[in-house]
Amino acid sequence: TKGAAMVTAVACRVQAQRKQIDEVLALFQLTRQQLVDVQGKMRAELEYGLKRKTHALATVKMLPTYVYGMPDGTEKGKYLALDLGGTNFRVLLVKIRSGRRSVRMYNKIFAIPLEIMQGTGEELFDHIVQCIADFLDYMGLKGAQLPLGFTFSFPCRQANIDKGTLIEWTKGFKATDCEGEDVVDMLREAIKRRNEFDLDIVAVVNDTVGTMMTCAYEDPNCEIGLIAGTGSNMCYMEEMRNIELVEGNEGKMCINTEWGGFGDNGCIDDIRTQYDMEVDEGSLNPGKQRYEKMTSGMYLGEIVRQILIDLTKQGLLFRGRISERLRTRGIFETKFLSQIESDRLALLQVRRILQQLGLDSTCEDSIVVKEVCGAVSRRAAQLCGAGLAAIVEKRRQDQRLEHLKITVGVDGTLYKLHPHFSLVLQETVKELAPQCDVMFLLSEDGSGKGAALITAVAKRLQQPRRE
Ligand code: GLC
Repeated sequence: TKGAAMVTAVACRVQAQRKQIDEVLALFQLTRQQLVDVQGKMRAELEYGLKRKTHALATVKMLPTYVYGMPDGTEKGKYLALDLGGTNFRVLLVKIRSGRRSVRMYNKIFAIPLEIMQGTGEELFDHIVQCIADFLDYMGLKGAQLPLGFTFSFPCRQANIDKGTLIEWTKGFKATDCEGEDVVDMLREAIKRRNEFDLDIVAVVNDTVGTMMTCAYEDPNCEIGLIAGTGSNMCYMEEMRNIELVEGNEGKMCINTEWGGFGDNGCIDDIRTQYDMEVDEGSLNPGKQRYEKMTSGMYLGEIVRQILIDLTKQGLLFRGRISERLRTRGIFETKFLSQIESDRLALLQVRRILQQLGLDSTCEDSIVVKEVCGAVSRRAAQLCGAGLAAIVEKRRQDQRLEHLKITVGVDGTLYKLHPHFSLVLQETVKELAPQCDVMFLLSEDGSGKGAALITAVAKRLQQPRRE
């Protein structure tokens, strides 16, 4: 009977531990009603951002992009494109051939060291120009005067297609003396400082806009661009008459929503967990981009890490020992989450991945880690879906349609690499916006190609003015 009592005691402890783990996981399981709430709040913020009176206070900035038209297939020529703000910094040469709607691209990836991302603005832009110089050399293009499109994936206030004042850095950037400055001017000045070549900077473009444009080149129904990558953001085509910040009532303009800032007024704090708060506090921009911090690649791994630390403290993981590694910020990149959650992976392989991260796990540990990753990424996809549902429903109602058929151009490592994110996102949109028929189109290198297409369209529209 003593043996039996011990077995019962162990069973009880295992059960109690399971309960504790489930309680933590439950914090990430949103009910349908909670998602409907998020959708409604997002919808309200979108409207605030568009209205002159409420714009300044809106957490969803709704920035006009001065992109009016979609490519019509007549675009052609050679363009340079820069892509700053995603996983990599790239310089590209894009050749567009008219008629056949085909695009050829050459690109080079350059690293931006952390000291430069978080150094001075001058250093950052000098580094960018150095990379352009290397690329031009490499391609044998020194001296060629090519029009350039600058994909700059941060919130910018634009007064024209070739002007963009950085409102504030997001994600991993924090270079000094840039906020409040025009990024095109900063780039021009850095080119002048180097005094080696000249470039015709035609357009500054958000990555969401480039993505939408790239997809619109193939599918004219594409009026939304979505990035689910390092950061999270969405743009869409809005009726000019609804954009109170811009003169004119005819046609449409693309709006960069900067929805990552959704919730910065506390409106979704009811669903944020202690782990979300910890991630926020440890970030470069505490209090800001709260929705982005629950939905994008740069932060999901951090949420997971915070949960694992807590479970370990409670003695529910890693034999209760918090290793130095687990204390290290940024160890869980999107690619690890994606691997851990892959259905084809045996638990032993999950343990091997954890081992690579310097985390010694038992088989039970690896099960729990996988569950934690699943709960965090599922919530991310659902929240992102609720946001998207808000916009498609708005578009449907604005056009007074019974049914809306619309295509979303998508890019980003989380969407592309994660085994479940895209499916959960799509299911959520379907559930929350049943009268919309939403197609998702993966963009092939939206940031580069899109910047070139926008540059081409801008050039075309510029011609009559110049002559
Ligand atoms: C951040 C940026 C936004 C960008 C997004 C995706 O949210 O503020 O401009 O589109 O990341 O890269």
